[in-house]
Amino acid sequence: MARILITSALPYINGIKHLGNLVGSQLPADLYARYMRVRGHEVMFICATDEHGTPAEIAAAKAGQPVAEYCAEMYGVQAELARGFGLSFDHFGRSSSARNHALTQHFAKRLGEAGLIEQVSEKQVYSHTDGRFLPDRYIEGTCPNCGYERARGDQCENCTMQLTPLELIEPRSTISGATDLEVRETHHLHLRQSKLRDTLDQWIDSQRGWPVLTTSIAKKWLHDGDGLQDRGITRDLDWGVRVQFDGAPWGGMEGKVFYVWFDAPIEYIAATAEWADAHSKDEAAWRRWWRTDEGAEDVRYVQFMGKDNVPFHTLSFPATLIGSGEPWKMVDYIKSFNYLNYDGGQFSTSLGRGVFMDQALEILPGDYWRWWLLSHAPENSDAEFTWENFQASVNKDLADVLGNLVSRVTKFCRSKFGEAVPEGGATGPREAQLVENITRRLRAYETHMEAMEVRKSATELRALWVLGNEYLQEAAPWSSFKTDPEQAAAQIRLALNLIRFYAVISQPFIPAASARIMADLGCDDWSWPEDVAAALALLPAGHGFTVPEVLFAKISDDQRLDWESRFAGSR
Ligand code: 2FM
Ligand code: ZN
Repeated sequence: MARILITSALPYINGIKHLGNLVGSQLPADLYARYMRVRGHEVMFICATDEHGTPAEIAAAKAGQPVAEYCAEMYGVQAELARGFGLSFDHFGRSSSARNHALTQHFAKRLGEAGLIEQVSEKQVYSHTDGRFLPDRYIEGTCPNCGYERARGDQCENCTMQLTPLELIEPRSTISGATDLEVRETHHLHLRQSKLRDTLDQWIDSQRGWPVLTTSIAKKWLHDGDGLQDRGITRDLDWGVRVQFDGAPWGGMEGKVFYVWFDAPIEYIAATAEWADAHSKDEAAWRRWWRTDEGAEDVRYVQFMGKDNVPFHTLSFPATLIGSGEPWKMVDYIKSFNYLNYDGGQFSTSLGRGVFMDQALEILPGDYWRWWLLSHAPENSDAEFTWENFQASVNKDLADVLGNLVSRVTKFCRSKFGEAVPEGGATGPREAQLVENITRRLRAYETHMEAMEVRKSATELRALWVLGNEYLQEAAPWSSFKTDPEQAAAQIRLALNLIRFYAVISQPFIPAASARIMADLGCDDWSWPEDVAAALALLPAGHGFTVPEVLFAKISDDQRLDWESRFAGSR
């Protein structure tokens, strides 16, 4: 039995995520966590909301709420949606937690002591009306090059010229429209990542078997241009982790907070501490996952994320951990994903284009989405959601293949033998062949699941379902019953066991459906089928069950057309 630490990239707090976000980190992480648990490993599966930064402040202002209140509310919404999709986090934390404040300050202090932080003086635009410094993209004005009146402080959208806010003509705040702006001298902390370049380079080289998508992105940042740049880790915001230690401010950093990308990954650790707090456990309980001097040396740590997050996880966060000089657990494997597009374009929050997590659950249960998303995960290239494909996948794989098998077998058994596993008869060569075929495919499924090959795993699982259907088609107990009821009884006994077998092995993909099947079978033995023949004889003759309700309803053409137009965008 191994110990496996799994983290999913933290969703930003501002707004509800779309299905592309879900399949890029949380959902495949959940698949892996569920699989590892059912295989008997000790799993710690961590996620949290990423709550700091300007977008959170702006979203709260838009909603007319204090930012702390807005975040608390959105946290509740996201936690509820996670439950709806069956995401089995051991803890879903918040980056605004006291634990994260303390840990973030701790890391900055250690980095400072190691000479890896320097104070840099910068010129920045201050807005008197807003009472704050403005990030570049919150300043608008007229482009000095083309005269476009809504050029942003970092770039003119019209002529693409790169700009600084100081170059804009008649600059104004995009928050308030205020024009009483002033350039002020200010100080920020920079993390001297460049000093850690060789260490990080070696660390990345020592990783075996990382996906190409992951290492190529990391290497590009290490070696392109001037190589790894030092980066600012503080911002002029109210909402965030204060730049202070043990209650005393870092000189010159009054009124500033750490940059959101500095504190967010630290929340992986902090959320594990939040988990310990929530379960009244001691410090050692979470530290054994994170400190290699306190038990984490035998932990395998796997991270899941979209490709845009890779630089932060291969370079910045490792720089924080290594730079601290303390024995923190480093990631062992990074599983990264490409993007999911929506019906010929991109998901768009502002246009309301595509399906968002709340809308998805309003129209269908989580398992339908889980199955489609995972079986079409954007692993080796971007993928695309289309309603036709979704309809076909649900109707064929879930309704026709798996759902139909479950309902046909249980209903037939009820009508001919009653609601209990039938007695009598013996299985023959056809069943032996089935066991052999299933064993072969099951071992392939296990290999892909271990390797986090999500699509290949789904393909094997589907093939396993198909084997069962083919067997029933050939054995045809509904015909054999007329001539040889004993044989039909043995076949149905096997088929009922096959249903339990499917519930167990499909659970990481479609947990709610699996749980319903098991409940209706009156079985709570989720043990993994190491020995397929034994697993297919697990429910003994006489074991009672009830016929499940329809497991998966088919999607009609009318529904498809309705949803297609409903989610086409521009709300
Ligand atoms: O890109 C994003 O959605 C970020 N909120 C991911 C943060 S991951 C981690 F480092 F916190
Ligand atoms: Zn311009």
